[in-house]
Amino acid sequence: MKTKSIVRAFVLSSVLSLPTLALAGEKIVGGERVVSLDDAPYMVSLQGSCGGSIISEKWVLTAAHCAGYFNEVTAGILNLKDAGTKVRVARVIKHPQYNRTTMAYDYALVELAEKLDLTSGTIRAVKLASPEFDRDGHQAPGMDSTVYGFGDIGERQYNSKGDLNKVTVPIVSNEEANRPGAYNGTIDNTMIAAGYAGGGKDSCQGDSGGPLVVFDQQNDPVQVGVVSWGEGCARANKYGIYSKVSTGYAWIRETTGL
Ligand code: ARG
Repeated sequence: MKTKSIVRAFVLSSVLSLPTLALAGEKIVGGERVVSLDDAPYMVSLQGSCGGSIISEKWVLTAAHCAGYFNEVTAGILNLKDAGTKVRVARVIKHPQYNRTTMAYDYALVELAEKLDLTSGTIRAVKLASPEFDRDGHQAPGMDSTVYGFGDIGERQYNSKGDLNKVTVPIVSNEEANRPGAYNGTIDNTMIAAGYAGGGKDSCQGDSGGPLVVFDQQNDPVQVGVVSWGEGCARANKYGIYSKVSTGYAWIRETTGL
C-alpha cells in the first residue's frame, strides 16, 4: 500500500543502525497474539499504517505523526484481513504543539464521519489517564503496562500474518529514559517511556498511534500512552517512547467535548 510505504520510508530513515532479529513466534516484539476481542475492544487499525484507540463513539486517539496516512478506521478486528467495522474519517486534529523534530505532543484526534455502535460491547471505548490518575501513582515507574499493535515483529520484520499482537512492559521514569546511554535528555513531560533496560520487548514500526494501557483496581484498562517513537525496536536502553495521555488529557477533553 502506498501510504504504508511512505510511513515505512519515514520510520526507516529514523532508524540509525543495524537491525536485530526477532525470535521466531514472538510478536509486536517479544509479545504474543491477542486471541479475544475482549482483550482489546478499543483497538483500531488506521488502514494498516498505524494503530489508534476508541475514546468515544465519535472519536479515536492516535499519534500526530500518523496524520495524513489514512482516511478510514477499522474497529473490532484481531487480524488486518478481518472485515470488522469500517468508518470513514471526518477530520484529523493534530495537537497544536506537536513538534515533528522533538516528537513532543505527538497526539492526534480522529473525528469519525459516523458514530460507532458501542452498545454491543465487542467494540468499546477506553478510559484515558488523567493528571490525577498520574498523581495518584497509577502509572508509576515499575508498573506493568501493555501495548497493542499490528506492527513489525522485529526491526524490519514485517508482521506478514496481520495479527493483532500485544506485549507487557514496565513503565520507566523519564529520569531513567533520559540517562546518557538511553535518550540523553530528549524525553520531556509530553512523553512516557516503557520497556526493559535489557531490551527484548517493545512496540515497533507500524504500532504507532496504538494504545499503551495499565489495568486499574477494577482491572479496567486505562490508556496511559500512545505509541510514538524509539531508536530501533527492543534495543537495550532504548525504551519505547509513548505520548503521555495524562499530559494531553485537557486538550483531548476540550477538543472532543468528552
Ligand atoms: N514511529 C513508529 C511508527 O510509526 C513507532 C515506533 C515505536 N518504536 C519503539 N521502539 N517502541 O509506527
